[in-house]
Amino acid sequence: MYLPSASRYANPSLYRRSGRSGLKLPLISLGLWHNFGGVDAYENARAIVRRAFDLGITHFDLANNYGPPPGSAEENFGRMLRTDLASHRDELIVSTKAGYDMWAGPYGDFGSRKYLLASLDQSLLRLGLDYVDIFYHHRPDPDTPLEETMGALAHTVRSGKALYVALSNYNHVQTARAAKILRELGTPCLIHQPRYNMLDRWPEPELLPLLEQEGIGCIPFSPLAKGLLTNRYFNGIPADSRAGHDPRFLRPEHVTDVVLAKTRELDTIAKSRGQTLAQLALAWLLNQKAVTSTLIGASRPAQVEDCVGATRNLQFAADELAAIERILTAS
Ligand SMILES: NC(=O)c1ccc[n+]([C@@H]2O[C@H](COP(=O)([O-])OP(=O)(O)OC[C@H]3O[C@@H](n4cnc5c(N)ncnc54)[C@H](OP(=O)(O)O)[C@@H]3O)[C@@H](O)[C@H]2O)c1
Repeated sequence: MYLPSASRYANPSLYRRSGRSGLKLPLISLGLWHNFGGVDAYENARAIVRRAFDLGITHFDLANNYGPPPGSAEENFGRMLRTDLASHRDELIVSTKAGYDMWAGPYGDFGSRKYLLASLDQSLLRLGLDYVDIFYHHRPDPDTPLEETMGALAHTVRSGKALYVALSNYNHVQTARAAKILRELGTPCLIHQPRYNMLDRWPEPELLPLLEQEGIGCIPFSPLAKGLLTNRYFNGIPADSRAGHDPRFLRPEHVTDVVLAKTRELDTIAKSRGQTLAQLALAWLLNQKAVTSTLIGASRPAQVEDCVGATRNLQFAADELAAIERILTAS
């Protein structure tokens, strides 16, 4: 029987309001994209989630297609919700998404009302929940009218199957249009989930200022660049690392000399701050005004502990920021 740590909420500054909403999210949130599927060891996945909850992480992020096989991360998390977390539903923010290929035929992908509403019903069944806290459109659909997609999101709130709606992978122009429609429908966009980390800063010039202006939160995914912004690859490519065993999105050839040179320099700055490289990468993101939370992945409980440790030092001196900037912008 799992009894969560009694001190899990000891640090109230671990939570930040999402944009101008009433919802607070933990500075570190846990995503279940990798390591929580049907092919993964359930007891390890369970240990990661328990450790996260013990450390005050209240937000767990899923999508219809997380696995493999697709859907199995929701099934596994549903099992945890029925067991370890059964008496803690109201302490949790569970998000899921639809937008990528999920089932065969013309109705299992992108952004039609038909797809989004059916997908959320399927996710709720797999999770064993009556509602999710946040329902995302996972990526923009170039062919479906935005009014239809946003109308479907708004319907999920009106039908009580989602509390808030959100966007992922939309650029600033798409986000501005979608946010206007959602506001008019009375279901404002809670948060945006872009890929954003020290090595990939595409949201900075236009998306982040827009989110601040619109009062929409921001939760960067892959804040550790899938593991590149950690000490994981300093001594080669470990067999149990993502680049070592899961070639879907991070391959050995992505661990380049250029990346390693930059991350070693960043590691020196991290050490001077008493942090690990992962902690520096997360603290740097959390230092951006628009950022509400960072959405990490983990393959073991110790990584979650390390990441949560980032919150012990979120302040940067001007010369530290300048040194980081020089490293990141050097060609
Ligand atoms: N909306 C979207 O389109 C989208 C796309 C991608 C991801 N996401 C969301 O974002 C979440 C996180 O993505 P991600 O897994 O790519 O994030 P990430 O945090 O950039 O990378 C996670 C990986 O970094 C390594 N790691 C984590 N903490 C570490 C530490 N303290 N020390 C050393 N290594 C550490 C682990 O790699 P090893 O496995 O090698 O140990 C872990 O699997 C996903 O689960 C998902 O919820 C959303």
